[in-house]
Amino acid sequence: MNLALCQKNYVQMLIAENPIICTCHHRYFNEILESLPHHTEKASVEWVQKLTGASTGCGSCLAKVEGIVECYRLKPQVFTKDP
Ligand code: FES
Repeated sequence: MNLALCQKNYVQMLIAENPIICTCHHRYFNEILESLPHHTEKASVEWVQKLTGASTGCGSCLAKVEGIVECYRLKPQVFTKDP
């Protein structure tokens, strides 16, 4: 996810559509989100890799996972359904 796309409308659309992020390990967007820690400062690609296996195969999804983690760290409010 490009940081320019780290907007509430876009993230909420991704949550609803739940696209696949990592084809090697069959991990979908919401599985990546569910793996993220409650404390945003602890969120990292390594954290997601350890809990989901995403981005530990061919690596082609690394940019997507990095984008999700960075968006979550910088703007966690876009992931909630609150107005
Ligand atoms: S697509 Fe995620 S590691 Fe290959």
